Amino acid sequence: MNKNALMGLTTTEAPFIENAQSQGQIFIEQPYALYSEDNQAAWRKLYALLKPKWERFANQKFLQGIHSLCLDPNRIPTLEEVNAFLEPLTGFKAKAVSGYVPTFLFFDSLKRREFPTTITIRNSQSLRYLPEPDIFHDIAGHVPMHTDKIFADVLVKFGALAEIAAKRHAHLSNSEEKKEKTKSNIQALARFFWFTIEFGLMREKESLCVYGSGLLSSADEIEHAVIASEVQRHPFQLEWVVNQSFEIDRFQPLLFVVESFEHLYREVERLEEWLLSGKLDHVSAGEPAISEEDVQVFLRRSE
Ligand SMILES: [Fe+2]
Repeated sequence: MNKNALMGLTTTEAPFIENAQSQGQIFIEQPYALYSEDNQAAWRKLYALLKPKWERFANQKFLQGIHSLCLDPNRIPTLEEVNAFLEPLTGFKAKAVSGYVPTFLFFDSLKRREFPTTITIRNSQSLRYLPEPDIFHDIAGHVPMHTDKIFADVLVKFGALAEIAAKRHAHLSNSEEKKEKTKSNIQALARFFWFTIEFGLMREKESLCVYGSGLLSSADEIEHAVIASEVQRHPFQLEWVVNQSFEIDRFQPLLFVVESFEHLYREVERLEEWLLSGKLDHVSAGEPAISEEDVQVFLRRSE
C-alpha cells in the first residue's frame, strides 16, 4: 500500500493534497479511493452528532436540502453524486479544491454557481473543533443551502461583487490609495460573508434558527449560537456588519439575525450600492487580516 492510501484524506495530513498544492493546483479531482476507514468514520460520527441538532436548530430550507441531496449518513459522498441532485435544482455545483482558495477566486466562483469544496475531512479523534473547512463543513454545512433558489441567488449576487470591487478603483493613479481602498472592500465583503453565509441566524415562525454553515457543521456551536445567554444576537445591520472584526478560533460572541432569505438578498443589494458609492472604501481596521496576495489578485483583475 502506498503512502497516499495509508494517510487517507485527513485534513493537514494528506500527501495527495500536499502534492497538488506544491504543483499550484487549486481545482482538483476527488480521489475517492484514498479515503481511509478513519475518514469514513469521521463522516459517520459527525453526521450522527449533527442530525438531531439540525432537526432542532436548522432552518427549514436546510432540512429540505439535506433531504433533496440524499446524503448518506454512513459514508462520504462523491461530489459527482451530490451535483447530480444539486445542479437540476439551482444550477450550483460543488467543485473540488486542494485547500485555500484566494478570496477573489472563491467569491467569483459563486457568481458562476460553482462552490469551491474541500475534499479532506477532519481526524475522527478530534471531531469537535476545526478552524479550517473540510468536506463535512462544505458538503453537509454549505451545500444543502445551495438547493434553495433564493439562497442560491444570494450567493450569485454576492459573488458578482468581487469583480465590481476589483474594477472600481482602476482609474486611480495613486497605487497606495488603490491598494488601501481595495483592501477595505475585500474586508467588508469578507465580514458580510462571515456574519451571514458562515454564521447567520434567521427568524423563522417566531423562533431563531441557524442558516450559517459554520454553525451547521459544528456539533457544539450550533446549539450555543441559538440558546447560550452570553451570545449577543442582533437584527442584521449592514453598517455594523461591514465594520465588525471577528476571530475564527472561538465560539462567536456576536451574531446577526435576518428575517428571511428575501431579506438577505435585499441586504446584498444594499451591499452592492454601498460598494459602488464608496461607503466600503474605509471600513474599520481589524480582522480578518487581508493578505497582500489577496489584494494583488483583485488588483490584477483591474488591469
Ligand atoms: Fe465555509
